[in-house]
Amino acid sequence: MIVPLKLMSSNTTKMCVVLGVTGGIAVYKACEILRLLQKQGIDVYVVMTKNACKFVSPLTFETLSGHPVAVDTFERPATWEVEHIALAKRADLFLIAPATANIIGKMACGIADDMLSTTVMATRAPIMLAPAMNTGMWDNPATQQNLQTLASRGVHIVSPANGYLACGDTGAGKLEDVAVIAQRAMEVLFAKRDLEGVRVMVTAGPTREAIDPVRYISNRSSGKMGYAIARAAQMRGADVTLLTGPVSLSAPQGVRVVPFTTTQDLLDAALEYADAQDIIIQAAAPADYRAKEIAGQKIKKKDGEDMVLRLVENPDVAATIGKKKREDQVFVGFAAETNDVTAHAQGKLMKKNLDMIVANDVTAPGAGFDVNTNIVTLMTRDAMRTLPLMSKDDVAGCILDAVVSLRNEKNLKHP
Ligand code: PMT
Repeated sequence: MIVPLKLMSSNTTKMCVVLGVTGGIAVYKACEILRLLQKQGIDVYVVMTKNACKFVSPLTFETLSGHPVAVDTFERPATWEVEHIALAKRADLFLIAPATANIIGKMACGIADDMLSTTVMATRAPIMLAPAMNTGMWDNPATQQNLQTLASRGVHIVSPANGYLACGDTGAGKLEDVAVIAQRAMEVLFAKRDLEGVRVMVTAGPTREAIDPVRYISNRSSGKMGYAIARAAQMRGADVTLLTGPVSLSAPQGVRVVPFTTTQDLLDAALEYADAQDIIIQAAAPADYRAKEIAGQKIKKKDGEDMVLRLVENPDVAATIGKKKREDQVFVGFAAETNDVTAHAQGKLMKKNLDMIVANDVTAPGAGFDVNTNIVTLMTRDAMRTLPLMSKDDVAGCILDAVVSLRNEKNLKHP
């Protein structure tokens, strides 16, 4: 899926991205990332590892970037010291794409033994990694732990996509779409800071309601929408608390993560954190019902007989928070609908005492559950705006723009 890059205005100050390229089959895609950034007026300098040079020649990057490419220059001890510090200082963003398990491991452990690892260690610029590797390497606990370490230090991670990999395996590990990587880089470079210090709580993902020790009721929420909002809010300077159901996404760096499993867990966490927030956005998909009784042992099949599962209603988290909402808080909910979308959403807006609802027709192609895009209508009590198909990252940006407007209408100032 190609996400159109936002055009930057021509009078934007020229920014510099240092693009680190490490050795994997996806190296050729780094050329495209370089071009996409250049088209947005970004000056790109390239640092390659020796292994990356085996896939694509430095001459290619030199020609495309218009700058000399820094490779492992320990053979030239007189110059590398100066060169790596100069590059580290020049960067407004240090992007490594593709990032191998090796560079991720080195960065997590503070190893600096070649031009790239030395330069990235010296930089004070924001760092972004777009990993690409075999799915087994990606799933390896060492890689995942290293990524968590880096994320906790504020490194931005563009998680790889699922797909058919060069090694013949299928699974996670494919370099994310180059347009998405370039878009993320642009967002970091030109991030608005209009939520500096504002406290934002976001809920994301599904709940799981146990039936017996091995089965549960859940839904198709992947958490992508909520995570995109948390990430966007964090980049705009907010202090973000992310209440997350069980999903397979890496938490955005720098946010407080509070996991939940059931709707009751979500309610407990929401009640604990809600009072301290300026903005609450509920994108999670909590189950409305749970099993009346959870069987202590695995329920056995009774050949030929129907099975009856008795369900009881779960608490409505949003309605509970809505009752406690203060005037100085902005409260946003979502409505996942399959018919009469805006009418149902309007009902929920009122019933849950929301300031805004994001109406989501989850049957529309490219919208709703477990896709990277969405089509939504932003509804307040007196206005309504339908957005076209766009990435969930862009939807998140539009939601936050609308929330900032609501805060301005309420005359709420930054803390
Ligand atoms: O996670 P993704 O794969 O990216 O998919 C995104 C999404 C489709 C889950 C998201 O865009 C979305 O629509 N989220 C709301 C899902 C939902 O539960 O909708 P609802 O219409 O049933 O609930 C309305 C609102 O009340 C929601 O804000 C929901 O979080 C909240 N709710 C619902 C039930 C409940 N028991 N407690 C709640 O707080």
